Amino acid sequence: MLTKTDEAAPTDGPKHVAIIMDGNGRWAQSRGKPRLFGHSAGARRVRQIVEACPDLGVKYLTIFAFSTENWKRTQTEVAGLMLLFRRYIQKETKDLIENGIRVRFIGDRIKLDKKLVALMDELERVTAHNDLVHMTVALNYGGRDEVARATKRLAQEVADGKLSPDDVDEETLTRFLDTCVLPDPDLVIRTSGEARISNFLLWQSAYSEYEFIDTLWPDFTPEVFAKVLAGYGGRERRFGAVPA
Ligand code: FPP
Repeated sequence: MLTKTDEAAPTDGPKHVAIIMDGNGRWAQSRGKPRLFGHSAGARRVRQIVEACPDLGVKYLTIFAFSTENWKRTQTEVAGLMLLFRRYIQKETKDLIENGIRVRFIGDRIKLDKKLVALMDELERVTAHNDLVHMTVALNYGGRDEVARATKRLAQEVADGKLSPDDVDEETLTRFLDTCVLPDPDLVIRTSGEARISNFLLWQSAYSEYEFIDTLWPDFTPEVFAKVLAGYGGRERRFGAVPA
């Protein structure tokens, strides 16, 4: 069982960290290997990062594994990634349960292979009682797509007479999002030197801090993670207000 080993785990650090895990392809190519070699190394890194969360005071970790745009990659890469997700779930389930990690998936499952969806459902079910770390994996996820799907469901409730248009506000829409049970991310990290959001948690990150770092995802060690979080400690978040 994974436990918090450090009683003095930071209390003022970010509770919810979201990560755009970028740079697997370049990491592999710089070693003369195929891109999928980088994705496999990236998957191993996920395990270390989620396991580092309790000591770093991170309760919620949300990771971008596959975007609604990633289908544009070659068929070989897409199929390889899908197989990697399946293998990851099969291989990691036991440790995730024992380590107190609750896993959720966000994104549209419609386009995903049925065997993969069954494994995702099962992993959510068997970790549902865990509470040490809440890991959310964004798979076939796009922020715009999520808002569009939420709006569709909301519109259906209006059409069914269950909801009045006058009662629709930010809180109402939030309830229809894939992330409805999660707090908004405090910090969004993107690895590999690119400084863009790429359709990740658009609604939820309205007031998040951002950290763009050069490290490629397979090189993102728990030590690098700790350093990024230490940098967050000094920031003043105002949520649109003026300083006190
Ligand atoms: C972006 O790097 C990474 C992805 C599209 C896939 C992310 C997947 C993993 C880290 C592995 C598996 C995750 C889980 C949850 C098992 P890129 O390929 O765009 O890199 P590049 O910009 O260098 O080409």
